[in-house]
Amino acid sequence: MKVIYPGSFDPVTYGHLDIIERSSKKFDKVIIAILNNKSKKNLFTIEERVRLLKETTKQFPNVEIDTFSGLLTSYVKEKGCSTVIRGLRAVSDFEYEMQMALVNRKTYPEMETIFMVSRAEYVFLSSSIVKEIASFGGKVTCFVPKVVEEALANKFKGGF
Ligand code: COA
Repeated sequence: MKVIYPGSFDPVTYGHLDIIERSSKKFDKVIIAILNNKSKKNLFTIEERVRLLKETTKQFPNVEIDTFSGLLTSYVKEKGCSTVIRGLRAVSDFEYEMQMALVNRKTYPEMETIFMVSRAEYVFLSSSIVKEIASFGGKVTCFVPKVVEEALANKFKGGF
């Protein structure tokens, strides 16, 4: 079965990579779909996010990196797919995820959203937290792979 794992990945963290690794073991193919939303203020460009995901997932042969804009359901249909993976970290994610899954079902009734529970050590992790720590020169070694840590250091070089 082919599944799509959508998100902003600004930048990818060990929390995302845990979901990607576990999905790659359960499904034949995992397409990571990075949202290219020009109205959302991202730290990393879409090209940079693609590069970081390609480098951090190259050990998984059945994982592919792609980008999308517009509605998730239209993209999923275009890809000939009907299953989406989302990670659930804490109860706080639940309401938002439930709302998205129900709205998506309205526009694409055959689409299923499968939730994977985060590993306990990553329930507090988010891309914003990582960016905040890195922006103050803090160490993010235990939250992101080296290549992402270096990309963050480059972004924040010289401070604001
Ligand atoms: N581990 C660590 N962090 C995680 C995580 C995990 N397993 N899962 C999510 N996160 C974090 C992300 O890092 C991100 O952190 P941030 O807010 O600090 O940046 C946050 O949770 C939300 O991330 P993400 O999963 O990227 O969701 P999103 O809200 O940015 O995007 C889309 C979700 C892309 C699926 C959704 O916006 C979408 O489908 N957009 C397309 C338009 C559309 O169809 N809209 C209608 C949908 S109802």
